[in-house]
Formats: sequence, structure tokens, C-alpha cells
Amino acid sequence: MFGREKIEYKTAEQVRTMRRAGLVVADAHAAVRAAMRPGVTTAELDAVAAEVIAGAGATPSFLGYHGYPATLCVSVNDEIVHGIPGDRVLAPGDVVSVDCGAVVDGWHGDAAFTVVLPDADPADVALSAATEDALWAGIAALATGERLGAVGDAIEDSVEAAGVPYGIVQEYIGHGIGSAMHQPPDVLNYRTREKGPRLRAGMCLAVEPMLTRGSRAIQVLEDDWTVVTVDGSRAAHWEHTVAIGPDGIWVLTAPDGGAERLARHGVTVAPWE
Ligand code: MF3
Ligand code: CO
Repeated sequence: MFGREKIEYKTAEQVRTMRRAGLVVADAHAAVRAAMRPGVTTAELDAVAAEVIAGAGATPSFLGYHGYPATLCVSVNDEIVHGIPGDRVLAPGDVVSVDCGAVVDGWHGDAAFTVVLPDADPADVALSAATEDALWAGIAALATGERLGAVGDAIEDSVEAAGVPYGIVQEYIGHGIGSAMHQPPDVLNYRTREKGPRLRAGMCLAVEPMLTRGSRAIQVLEDDWTVVTVDGSRAAHWEHTVAIGPDGIWVLTAPDGGAERLARHGVTVAPWE
């Protein structure tokens, strides 16, 4: 963890291109949210995202990545991440995590959200809210922290503050992002003794906590992609791509750059424009 591989520090122009990719991802998210309802299949949601990305003249990051067969990852209930869209029909009360990446002129954006369909179990709604809160706490730490380890500290503190014994998945973590979807450094979702690299202008990072309502133990299904909880508990996943600039941070995959959510942490966003 926190390996010594080289971090790609971006120029202002590269970050602006990543913002374009981030907004394509945000548009795809919005379209998928609008299409999400009981009765829709996960493949139909995938087609919605594919159309938005193609319509923007962008390319899906996931399709073909290590052979991955779709534009989205759609992970339902006990599926945590990397669920493959298909003929599964969404049902009332399902917990649905949608992850999407897009490339514009060679630069990537990557983000995920979770929704709980109507007839929700309030405990599932709380799980998703706690995961989103943990994401924003982690993002805020990129503005207020000195070193990358501050993100994992903040995520773990946020989950603890929720007062529910959620599992924090450790096998899947955030990452550097830029001219490739996955780059160094690793962005952990939990506290460690390593402080990690110093946070510097030009770093672009995907922060992506995954929480479960039970144990954090995971297993990968026979399709070699779908990651599920071993105990069958439901899971949520939230992610954004964030740039660190000379004057602060900018959430590239949030339409408002993160302004609203980060204000709650006393952080003012600083678009690098
Ligand atoms: N979106 C995942 C991440 O956030 C990566 C998906 S891998 C894929 O890092 F192969 F499914 F595309
Ligand atoms: Co990611």
C-alpha cells in the first residue's frame, strides 16, 4: 500500500479535460437515475449510460477494461461492486450501486452512486447515506489534510460517527486517475499507520468507500467480476473523481464541483480554470 510508483501530476489543461470527462459521467449518472425504477433491467440502465457517453463524443472507461463487458457496473443488494449489467429486473426496495467511467481526449472520470428503490428498508437508506457521508468526509480531507492517509482516517471516523457497525470493505479501494482509470497512489478507505504521500497540486484521485450492513468479508462470484458480501448483507458504494489544485480541491464528477457537500465540512471548492 502507498507504493512508491510514480504519481502523475496533472497540468491545469489536463485537469480541465478531466473535468469534461467528469461532467460526461455526471450526465450519465443523471440519465441512469432518471431511468431507475422497479421493472427496469440492469442492461437497460447500461444502454442509457452508453448512449449519453457516445452522444457526448466520449468513450466508456470500463468497456473492455481487462475484458469487462459493459459500460456500467450495476451492483444490487449484497453485490458490492463490479456487478455486470444483464437481464436482472430491479425490484422494489433493491439497493442499486451504479459505477461509471468515461474518457475524453484520453483523460478519465470515474464516479459511483447508490440508490434504494421505493419500498425501501430505512436501514438500507441509512447505509447509503452513511456511505455518501463517508465519501464527502474523505474528499474534504483532501482539502484539509497534509498527506493522503488523511482520507482513510476521515472515512473511518465518519463511519464510526454514524453509530452503526457497518463493515468497511478493504479489498477494493480508491486510486489515482488521469491518463489511465487506475493509477498510483492507492486511496484507502480505512486508517493505517502509513501517512501516505504528501497531497500536492496536480494530483487527481478517485475516492470510493464501500460499506456493508454486516461483515466486511467479500467474495468474487464465478463470473470473475461480481464482488458480494460473504454474509449476504447489503452494500453501498459512492465515488467521485477529485483534483487537487493550487488553491484547493475540485470534484470533477460533481456538477457543482462539490460546493454544496463540501460547505458542510467548511471547505470551499477551487475550480482550476
Ligand atoms: N469503477 C471501478 C473503480 O471505481 C472500476 C471498474 S473496473 C471495470 O475503480 F472493469 F469494471 F470496469
Ligand atoms: Co474508481
